[in-house]
This record gives sequence, structure tokens and C-alpha cells, in this order.
Amino acid sequence: MTIPETIPADSPAYGPPDSDARPEAGSTNPWVRVLDDIVSERRAKVPFPPGPGNFDFARTKRMAHDPLPILLSNYERYGPVFSIRMLHAKVVFMLGPEANTYVTVTHPHNFHWREGSFGDLIPLLGDGLLTIDGGYHDRARRIMMPAFHREQIEAAVEAMALEAAAAIERLTRGDAVDVYEWMRNLAMRIAMRALLGLDPDDAGHGASAAEHFERALGFYGTEYHLRLLRGPRSPWRRLIRSRAVLDRIVYAEIARRLANPDPGRRDILSLLLAARDEDGSGFSNEEVRDQLMTLMFAGHDTSTSTLSFLLYEVARNPHVLAALQAEQERVLGGEPPTPEQLEHDLPYLEMVVDEVLRLYPPAWIGPRRAVRDFEFGGRTVPAGAHVNYCSWASHRIPEIFGEPEAFIPERFTRERKASLPRGAYVPFGGGSRICIGKRFGQTEVKLVATMLLQRLRLELLPGRTMTIRQMPTLSPEGGLEMRVRERELPEPLG
Ligand code: HEM
Repeated sequence: MTIPETIPADSPAYGPPDSDARPEAGSTNPWVRVLDDIVSERRAKVPFPPGPGNFDFARTKRMAHDPLPILLSNYERYGPVFSIRMLHAKVVFMLGPEANTYVTVTHPHNFHWREGSFGDLIPLLGDGLLTIDGGYHDRARRIMMPAFHREQIEAAVEAMALEAAAAIERLTRGDAVDVYEWMRNLAMRIAMRALLGLDPDDAGHGASAAEHFERALGFYGTEYHLRLLRGPRSPWRRLIRSRAVLDRIVYAEIARRLANPDPGRRDILSLLLAARDEDGSGFSNEEVRDQLMTLMFAGHDTSTSTLSFLLYEVARNPHVLAALQAEQERVLGGEPPTPEQLEHDLPYLEMVVDEVLRLYPPAWIGPRRAVRDFEFGGRTVPAGAHVNYCSWASHRIPEIFGEPEAFIPERFTRERKASLPRGAYVPFGGGSRICIGKRFGQTEVKLVATMLLQRLRLELLPGRTMTIRQMPTLSPEGGLEMRVRERELPEPLG
């Protein structure tokens, strides 16, 4: 293969300089990315870390469907940094507490997000937090942070509780229900209200936005080779059509809010339109659109999967269910929880959620592109390499989490959590780009779990096992069917 003239031989084939300006739109042609990967690897000035470097289709396939055993065995063999060839490219993995801390906290400037695989999201999300870097990212994050402060999330709890109560009402005792699908629908309705301020039952706006967002997301769940197609009925064309509908709805909503400003509105769209940076500047309409799409994307699958895995583990561990319900009785006495109670008064629930996110961190991989050569753990990593930290594998290192496969909420008592090595537990990432929706997502999961388990018990279907799908986020493969039962009342005291 010859390297095209358009990429000068002495300049890096990746990454614009860190800048405060909005980045230029790159190519959406996947072959350009493939070529860019090949060029970067050829130009590497320092060696890649060791690891299986030969082309092996079976390994690539296993990495796409069941990566955990491969990652953990390479960690044992090579230590915390190694390379694995996947299709045409060598990909670097960095695992364990020190590696997580290096990537997220102490050396984030060695990496870009946009030129890593988050860049694949640009056609739908545009330039939101997940796909921008440098000063442009930091400014956007400064403007957005106040919308995620405690008081604003408390306002969102109202929408969450309203939607959760209605969704629970629709569950019928005795029925088998796909709880993954149920929560996905609920999370989307919550997002419509809390993020966009739209009524999810309004066919012209909220319902249509929800439907087209799901359709657009479908693109990222399809097999890689189908995503390369560009024909009239291809997944790509469906994505583009749905994006156009979403854009119409979101821009119309922005125009409506600007024409009739209402300081009483607390949804994230209204907050972003009003938000200002320290110098008084705010977002353009296009920037608001891109950030909103990004929030919808980042918050949707993650909360859905966390609740599904929680219900799965609770059903498998009756003593955990009993302890959760005893705490609910003691603290809430049958009433729905307030935001303060969710945050401070339900420590066992908190431990259960922590343990669910240890075993099944939905955003399990943090994809980056190295923008300079660097050294870690006595190995070099060349500029241009794809580098991933991985919470899923890091959370299953037996020296740090004994009996890593077992579901043991007690690992996360306050004292034991505080004594974990720095960077050992990273379900929300870390450093200055830690998940901006952490409080939102935790509140949503805790609220829905509490309201659900106050009324009902979800039982696994006999003989059914769960397998995990990991793209684009961890989720139960093919959904998670469970039987809805009446909640058993606790033993009377005394
Ligand atoms: C249980 C729920 C959630 C989990 C486990 C989770 C996990 C994560 C992780 C691991 C990252 C960092 C990725 C990396 O380092 O590569 C991240 C970033 C992010 N998350 Fe979440 N997330 C959750 C919920 C949410 C929600 C509800 C929202 C929005 C409402 C959200 C918005 C974002 C955004 C915008 C970023 C990028 C932040 C930046 O780069 O400045 N997340 N999330």
C-alpha cells in the first residue's frame, strides 16, 4: 500500500493541536480512518508495548465478543501495558490502578478523545464533550458544569419519579417482562423530560425525538462491516435520516425557548441556553444541539444497563434483596425516597450500586489516541497509537478485588472503599473528564431501583442465563426477561 501524498511524511497523521477553537469536521469515510491507522503505525518512532502482534481473525472476533479473558490473560503475561493486533491495527491496553490513574488523572494531555474510537460518534453527536479536546473541551465543560450541580439534579428527580411511578404501574404481576427494554424506555422518557424538557407522549416532538434517537443509535449497535456501507438502505443512511428529524425537533425547541425565555424552566436544554462562561460568552445553537445529543447518548444505555444488572444480581442473591428491603423499610417506611435520602440515608443501596458497577461498568473502555510518544511501566507507546484503559478488566484483578467474580456489596463499605488503591475503581472514569452525569445517573438508578423494589420482586426465569454484550456499552445480550411478582412483606418486628 502506498501512503497518499496528502499526508506529509514528517507530520503526525492524527490530532489537531490542542486549541480553543471548534475542531474542523473530519471525514466520515471509515476507510480514511483505516488508512490513518496504518500510516500512524508505520511512522511509530518508538516500539509498541509487547503482546500478540500477528494478524489473527479469530482473536479479533473474540475481542469483539468476549474480550475479558484475553485482556486478563495478557495482563498476567505482560503486565499493565500491552498491545493486541485487532484487524489492521495494533491497539494498546493499559490496565490496573496505576494505568487508570496515568490515563485519566496524571497524564491526560498525552491523549485525545476525538481521534480515538469516540470519533465514530461524530456523525450523530457532532462536537459534544465526548468528541472534543483541549481548550475547546474545557470551555464547554465549564459552561455545562452548573447544570449538573446537586440542586439541578434534585429538580430532575421530580421527572424521574413521575415517569418511574407510571412505568411501574404498567407492570403486571405474573408477566414475564424484558427489564432491559422496560428500563430503556423509561430512561428515554426521563431524558426527554429532564434533558430536553419535552413531553414523551407528544407525538410531534418528544415521542418522535425518542423514536429517532433510538433508530440513530441502532447504527452503533450494528456489526462493523455493515457500518462501512453507504447505499440507500444501509444503516448509515438510516442514521442520517434520523439525525435530520432530531435536528429539526431540537432546533425548533431551541428557537421556541429563545423566543419565550422562562427562567422557571429547569431542564438541561434551558440551562444550557442560559449558561455563560467566565468571560460572559455562551454556546451557539449548534453547540447546544451537539452537547444535548451527547448527553442523551452518554446517559441512556449506561443507566439502563446498570439497573438491569442490579435487578439480575439482586434476584440471584436473596440475602441482598432482603437487606435492601430492610433498609427501605427502616428509612423510608413505604414512601418514595427524597433526593437527600437517596444521597445520604441508603448506604446499603449505595454499596449494591457500587458492586454492580464494579462487575459490569457499562462504559467499560476509555478509548484514546496517543498524541505524543510516552513511557509507562517501563514500556514505550508511540504517538498515534490507539490506547484504551479498561475499567471492566481492571475491576476483576484478583489481587485488588478478591473473588472477583462474586457479587459482594460489602466490599464497598465506606472504610473499605476508601482503602482501595487510587485508580482501582473507575466506573465513571477519573480526573478532569470524569463523567459529568455521574450524579444524574446514580440518582436515576437508585430511585428507580428503590421505587420498583418497594412494590415488586423480579424473578429470573428458570434455566435462563445471562450473557453480556459489550458494544457500544455493556448490556445483557438479547435483553433480560424476568417474572414480575408481588413483593413479599418483611417479617413483623418482634
Ligand atoms: C450509571 C451511569 C453512568 C456511567 C457508569 C457513566 C460512565 C462514564 C464514564 C466511564 C465516562 C468516562 C469515559 C472515559 O474516560 O473515556 C463518562 C463520561 C461522560 N458521561 Fe457518563 N456515565 C453514566 C451516566 C451518565 C449520564 C446520565 C450522563 C448525562 C446526563 C453522562 C454523560 C457523560 C459525558 C458527557 C461524559 C464525557 C465527559 C467529558 O469528557 O468531559 N453519563 N461516563
